[in-house]
Amino acid sequence: MSEDFARFSELFGALDDAERKQLSSLAKPARFEAGDVICREGEQGDDFFVLVKGSVSVSADNFGTPRELATLTRGQFFGELAALSEQPRQATVTAVESVELMRIPLSAVKEVLKRSPRAAEVLQKSGLQRVEDTLKKMME
Ligand code: CMP
Repeated sequence: MSEDFARFSELFGALDDAERKQLSSLAKPARFEAGDVICREGEQGDDFFVLVKGSVSVSADNFGTPRELATLTRGQFFGELAALSEQPRQATVTAVESVELMRIPLSAVKEVLKRSPRAAEVLQKSGLQRVEDTLKKMME
């Protein structure tokens, strides 16, 4: 992983060198094309994702109608809610264009969270904000 990428990624920026190396050594590159569903609301999640290139759209079902929640781009992550809560996916994430990702098993993320309070804080804060944001948008 390049220093450059660590600057783009809030999560990787919060890790020290050893933690960054550990997490990236467990990551597998993944590629999706426009329209591909990367993870689906309600399904069990086994992976956590960091966006290396391209953008994805996040949506969730609102009484039968998909509600757009966010667009995520380079350096941002998704799939942390399954890692934090062991609940099914809270949203569907779809590639908007050609997308390159780091796919990291949730077990590896949990290990890093145990060792790195800073990384745990980044994921917890973001997870909380996203859950609040989803609730707000569903009520609009
Ligand atoms: P998870 O529930 O594991 O899988 C779907 C992911 O979509 C979720 O983790 C978050 O990473 C992401 N997500 C859910 N809600 C939002 C939101 N309101 N804004 C941005 N991302 C979200």
